[in-house]
Parts: sequence; structure tokens; C-alpha cells
Amino acid sequence: MKDCNRGKVFLIGAGPGDPDLLTVKALKALQTADVVVYDRLVSPEIMALVPERTERIDVGKMPKHHKVPQDQINELLVALAAQGRCVARLKGGDPLIFGRGSEEAEALRSAGLDYVYVPGITSAQGCAASTGVPLTHRGLATGVRYVTGHRAKDAALDLDWRSLACENTTLVVYMGAMNIGEIAGALMGHGMPQDLPVMAVSAVTTPRERRVTATLADVADVMAAAEMAAPVLFVIGHVVSLYQTAALPAEVMAYA
Ligand SMILES: C[S@@+](CC[C@H](N)C(=O)[O-])C[C@H]1O[C@@H](n2cnc3c(N)ncnc32)[C@H](O)[C@@H]1O
Repeated sequence: MKDCNRGKVFLIGAGPGDPDLLTVKALKALQTADVVVYDRLVSPEIMALVPERTERIDVGKMPKHHKVPQDQINELLVALAAQGRCVARLKGGDPLIFGRGSEEAEALRSAGLDYVYVPGITSAQGCAASTGVPLTHRGLATGVRYVTGHRAKDAALDLDWRSLACENTTLVVYMGAMNIGEIAGALMGHGMPQDLPVMAVSAVTTPRERRVTATLADVADVMAAAEMAAPVLFVIGHVVSLYQTAALPAEVMAYA
């Protein structure tokens, strides 16, 4: 990329895991960057596309398995770009959907440094394509909402349950694995039917993808038994009734 002859950060969405779902722009940035700063959610299949010569910095983990704090990641990006390096900041899914890409952009802007967003396919979209469960469907869902099932520092969930408890809207819950029992209970407490279908999918669009279906009433038990590995995404709503393994064409089933 021509722009890479001076300090600049590409805030890149790597998509949900399948390297074929990277954008052309993301791939070009990965292949020309001097250094790749990457998250835990970036699949090994995508990291395999980074040239051997490129420096890699893993900010998903520290020695004791804690994530590198966000302010340290911001400082790292600022320092690398200030050295005049071309930086690929690689994140799972899309950088602007529960990705903190805008916080990193803010730090770079404050330091007077260049950045550009490169969008990625968010895991909800990857999940819809790989399972064949649409996020909207005439007669089943007139809209979709992406919500977080986790709050910083494990604070109590503080969601607007009354507005979320709407049967016509599909809910996609990111980061909800630890709290799915509480989420399902609150939705039922606000009027959602006990038999409303729920689908949990882990590692969507990768060879490790796993799917489980349940209802609001039993999703906590089903998840406890399933022992799915992170990352897990939940789709809650009538659209899940369209999940029919046997009816999916081979290409849609490619990851199952
Ligand atoms: C910090 S959020 C990042 C979301 C990401 N920016 C995106 O657009 O998909 C992490 C959560 O995203 C979801 N997620 C991300 N990648 C996933 C994948 N490949 N399979 C299932 N869920 C995924 C999980 O709910 C996970 O807990």
C-alpha cells in the first residue's frame, strides 16, 4: 500500500475466522505492514497469511494469561506509528462492533497520527451465513439487535430488558457465555416465551465451529452440558426455528 511509507495504523477487522472472508483491503494491509498487532480472536488461519518477515505482537495475552489493558494497547499503537512504521492492528470480526477500534482511533487522533478503518465481517454475519439462520426474515423478525452480554470488570448486566424483550426482533448476544442464564431469565421475566429458540455457535466459520440449539428456558443447562469453547455467540429469536441441519446445502455446512 502506497500510504505505508510513513507512520500509519490500519484498524482492521479480520472477520469471524475463515481467511476467505477477509476483505481484499485487509489482506493488502496485512501483506505490506511492518508490524501486526493482533488479538486473541484472530484465527490461526488468518495469522498464517502474515508474511514471515513481519513483526507480530500478541496483545491478546500477557504472561499470566491476562489481556493487555486497553490503554497499553493504545500506547503501543501510538508508539509504533510515531516511529514511522506501518501498523496492521488486527481484530476479530469488525473493529467497530464491540471491538474498541474507535478507542484506538481516538488515541491515534489525539497523538496527531494517521489511521484508517478496514471493516470486517462481524461474527453475527458469519454465523448467519454458516448456519443458514438469517438475522431477519419476513414474518419472523423485522429487525436485529446486537447486544453485549458482559460488562467491564464483571459488573452486573445493566441492559434495557423491557426494550430487548421483543419477539419481532432477533437478539444477537456477544460475550454472553458467562451470563446466558441471567440473560434468558431476564428476557422471560419481561415477557419473552419460555420456548423461544436460542442458538449458540462457537468459533463460527472455522473448522472448530460448533452449534447448539435450545430454548430460553433450558439454554443455561444446555450450555453447561455442551462445554463449548470460546468465542461463543448467541442468536435468540424465532429465526432460529429455520435452523435445519439436514436441509442446508453442503457449502453452508462447510464449517460444521
Ligand atoms: C470483544 S467481542 C468482539 C466482536 C467482534 N468485533 C465482531 O465483530 O465479531 C467478542 C465476542 O464476539 C463474539 N465472537 C467473535 N468472534 C466469534 C466467532 N468466530 N465465533 C463466535 N463468536 C464470536 C463472541 O461472542 C465473543 O465473546
